[in-house]
Amino acid sequence: MTDDTKKSTRRSQAWFGRQDRDGFIYRSWVKNRGIPHDQFDGRPVIGICNTYSELTPCNSHFRALAEQVKIGIWEAGGFPLEFPVMSLGETLLRPTAMLYRNLASMDVEESIRANPLDGVVLLMGCDKTTPALLMGAASVDVPTIGVSGGPMLSGKYRGRELGSGTGVWQMSEDVRAGKMTQEEFFEAESCMHRSHGHCMTMGTASTMASMVEALGVGLPHNAAIPAVDARRNVLARNAGRRIVQMVEEDLVLSKILTRQAFENAIRVNAAIGGSTNAVIHLLAIAGRIGIKLDLKDWDDIGQQLPCLLDLQPSGKFLMEDFYYAGGLPAVIRQLESVIDKTALTANGKTLWENCQDAPNWNEEVIRSFDKPFKEAAGIAILKGNLAPDGAVIKPSAATPALLKHRGRAVVFENSDDLHKRIDDENLDVDETCVLVLKNCGPKGYPGMAEAGNMPLPPKILRKGITDMVRVSDARMSGTAYGTVVLHVSPEAAAGGPLAVVQNGDFIELDVEARKLHLDVSDEELARRRAQWQKPELPPQMQRGWVKLYVDHVQQANQGADLDFLVGKSGPYVPKDNH
Ligand code: FES
Repeated sequence: MTDDTKKSTRRSQAWFGRQDRDGFIYRSWVKNRGIPHDQFDGRPVIGICNTYSELTPCNSHFRALAEQVKIGIWEAGGFPLEFPVMSLGETLLRPTAMLYRNLASMDVEESIRANPLDGVVLLMGCDKTTPALLMGAASVDVPTIGVSGGPMLSGKYRGRELGSGTGVWQMSEDVRAGKMTQEEFFEAESCMHRSHGHCMTMGTASTMASMVEALGVGLPHNAAIPAVDARRNVLARNAGRRIVQMVEEDLVLSKILTRQAFENAIRVNAAIGGSTNAVIHLLAIAGRIGIKLDLKDWDDIGQQLPCLLDLQPSGKFLMEDFYYAGGLPAVIRQLESVIDKTALTANGKTLWENCQDAPNWNEEVIRSFDKPFKEAAGIAILKGNLAPDGAVIKPSAATPALLKHRGRAVVFENSDDLHKRIDDENLDVDETCVLVLKNCGPKGYPGMAEAGNMPLPPKILRKGITDMVRVSDARMSGTAYGTVVLHVSPEAAAGGPLAVVQNGDFIELDVEARKLHLDVSDEELARRRAQWQKPELPPQMQRGWVKLYVDHVQQANQGADLDFLVGKSGPYVPKDNH
C-alpha cells in the first residue's frame, strides 16, 4: 500500500478527508484553536484519553503528562487530540470505585469509536483507571499504547518509610490497640503522600501499571518510574512518538493482547507479589479482546512461581526503590526460564528483547529466580462447597501457619454489621475463629468493596495477634495483607453458599490442597438455601447506573464485567449525523 493510500484509508479520513459540506464541518470547528489546514492531510490522528481529575489525586498531574505525549505525537508527524473520560479515584469515590469501572470503560470505548481517531494513548494511574481504559480500548481495537502516571515518592514519617495504604492499615490497628495516638495518626497523613503519583506500594495501581508493561501495552519501565521523575515525562513523550508509528504499522491492540501476553502478565504478577485485583481486571480485559482466560489459569501458570520483589505489602521496600533497582525489566529478565519470549510489545520488540539485558542494581530489592524473596507466591485459586466457582488467596501476603486452618465461623451479614460489631468486647470470637463477611460482592455491595481484609477485634489485637483467617465475597486493597480469602463465587447476594454460612459453622482452609470447605452437610445446606431470601437494595440503588450494573454484572470469577460488554465491536466508523 502506498503512503497516500494508507493515508486515505485511515479512520480519521472518514471525517477530515472529505471535500464536501461535512468535511468543512468536521475540520472547521477543530480549527477554532488555531490548527493549520495541513493537520488534516491524512496523518495519524491520535487520541489522548485522559483521566485527569482533582477528584482522583493519583492522576492530578495528568495535564502535564498529556502535554508530553502531545509533543511526542507532533515530533513524529501525528496530530494529537486530547479528550477526558470518567476518572475513578480510589480514595474518594463511594461506595467503591469498582462500581464504576465498567461505566468508565463504556465511556472510553464509545469516545474512541465515535471520534476521528486512528490510535490512542491511554493515561492511567489510580487503580481502576487502568483496567477501565484497557477494557474500553480493547473493545475498539485500534493501535493503543498505555502510559501510567507513575508511583509517588516513598512516604517518610519520623525517620521511617511509610507505604500507601499498607501503612494506614498498620497504623489504624495501632490506634485501635492503643499503641499510637490520634495526633500521631494525623501527622502521618501528611507524611504518607507527599508528591504526585499513585500509591507507591505494590498495590493495585502499581500492579496494574506492571501489567500494562508485562502485557506489552506500555513501554519498558512504564511500571515503576516515579511520577515526579523527569524520566516519566520522557516515557510519555516517547509513547507519543511511538503511537504514530504504531498507526503506520497497523499494530492494533489485539496483536499485542494475545494469550501469550496474558500468560506473561500472570507470571509477572506472581514475581512482583501483585494485587489480587489483577485477577478480576485481567479476566475482564481478556474477555473484551476475545482471549479465553479463566480463574484456573492463574493457579496453573502463576502459583508456583516465586515472588522476587521485597516490596510492601508483602515486604519492606517501595516503588521508588524498585525503579532505582532496575524496575520491571530486571524482574522479567529473571523469568527467562518461564516467560513466553515471542509476545510482542508496543515498541515493536518482544517482551524478552526489551528485558534480556536489563541490569539489577540492588539485589536486596529485586531477588534472583534461584534465591527469591518468597517461594510459590502466585495467587492460588481455592474451590470447595463454599466457593463452587472459585475464590482467591494471595499466599505471599498471608501468615504461613494459617494457610492450613480449621476454625469456627464468626459471621457478619454485611459491611454495616461488621462495623457495628467488630469492636464489641462481647463478640464471641478468638484468634482461631474464621471471620466471614457476606454481601460485599459485585451485586451485593454493589460494586464489590475492598472490605475483605476485615479489621481484627481489638481484644485479639491486644494479645499481639495480627492475622486471622478471613473469608468473603469482597475484594481486598492491593496494599493490604493477611490470610484473606477473597472473591468467593458465587457471591452471597447471588445465592452462593456463602449466603447460608452461620455463626458456629466450621470452615476449613487448606491452600496447598486448594480447598475451602464448609463443614455442613449437603442436606442442611439445601435446607438453609430453601429459606434464604435475597437481600433488597435500598430504593435509591434501584434505578440508573446501579440498577443496570446489578442486573448485568458477572461474578468475580468471570471478571465482573457487564454481560453485554464482553467482547468487542471493533473500530467501525459510525454513520455521520449531518
Ligand atoms: Fe490511587 Fe492508591 S489511591 S492508587
